Amino acid sequence: MTSLDDLPLRDDLRGKQPYGAPMNPVAYALNVNENTHPIPASVRASIVEALAQALESINRYPDREFTDLREALARYANSTHDGVPLDAEMVWAANGSNEVLQHALQAFGGPGRSVLGFPPTYSMHSIIAESTGTKWVSGMRGDDFELSPEIVSEAIKRLDPDVVFLCTPNNPTGAAISLEIIEAAYEASRGMVLVDEAYVEFLAPGSPTASDLLAGRARLMVSRTMSKAFAFAGARVGYLLADPAVIDALRLVRLPYHLSSLTQAAAVAALSHTETMLSMVDDIRHQRDRLLRELPKLGYPVCDSQANFVLFGGVSDPQELFGKLLAHDILIRDVGIENHLRVTAGTEQETSYFLERLATMGS
Ligand SMILES: Cc1ncc(COP(=O)(O)O)c(C=O)c1O
Repeated sequence: MTSLDDLPLRDDLRGKQPYGAPMNPVAYALNVNENTHPIPASVRASIVEALAQALESINRYPDREFTDLREALARYANSTHDGVPLDAEMVWAANGSNEVLQHALQAFGGPGRSVLGFPPTYSMHSIIAESTGTKWVSGMRGDDFELSPEIVSEAIKRLDPDVVFLCTPNNPTGAAISLEIIEAAYEASRGMVLVDEAYVEFLAPGSPTASDLLAGRARLMVSRTMSKAFAFAGARVGYLLADPAVIDALRLVRLPYHLSSLTQAAAVAALSHTETMLSMVDDIRHQRDRLLRELPKLGYPVCDSQANFVLFGGVSDPQELFGKLLAHDILIRDVGIENHLRVTAGTEQETSYFLERLATMGS
């Protein structure tokens, strides 16, 4: 049988493993920070109608500029931020924010260039760096995984990256960073600064977001997703907000017609029901706050989270506890941080079941 080693594979891909969280079929999947609430039936019906209409012209290529989707995303983004109004020219979209990040590094990273991130952070950041031939360089965080304007600027000045990735709220720690940190990163950097806001909707209502800083900062990009708060992970829709010149740069690297007409139609329909789609966010925040309160009572200190998941410590053997929970049909995530595990805030019932089972296990 032919193995990978027998193929003339790119040297830098040799010995690599494909990324992927375990996909065990379990009753309680709390491992990849999905929204565990299915979308309401009324929205599903409206999406089906939109898909049926899109199918009427499925013999044609989709709108390469995904105009309706960009307009709908701009309207949605404007409803969530305080900066200057964003228009569709400042919006990009792709198949999940992972693809958005890939486009950003294809355009602004690449061979001979580097991207700076601050681990522990979203593991795909360094993987997308590698797959686009961009050198990944790591900055150090302070105590309790903290970042500050000083920490970020010092690392940028020392490492002089072409791109800086910040993630807020950060996966896997859950902590949000202040706008001062983002401004400091922008000032210190000569390159692009990308703020990954995949979990932005789980911040306390009214919190500032990086999109408030876009005016006058052409090197700033803000990536977001419909996978989390919008409960749309299976549809694969991520987007990015930036100066129109940045969007022009991303056009240079996307494949033509990268967003199918079905994806575009489904996303536009979902966005026309934003209020209903986001009606579960309050409950998810509530379940996250329950985890933040209850886990310490069970002997597991938590990292304060503003996302839909909680990283908890005090786990003497993460693999063992992971296995014990799995035996009860609960899948959470070992993110490779010593003595820590991460759990997604699920529905009230899922969160209760997780906490009840955990209470029966020693740490
Ligand atoms: C911080 C962060 N960014 C981006 C993503 C990717 O999301 P998607 O590709 O589903 O939009 C995730 C997924 O877990 C994430 O945690």
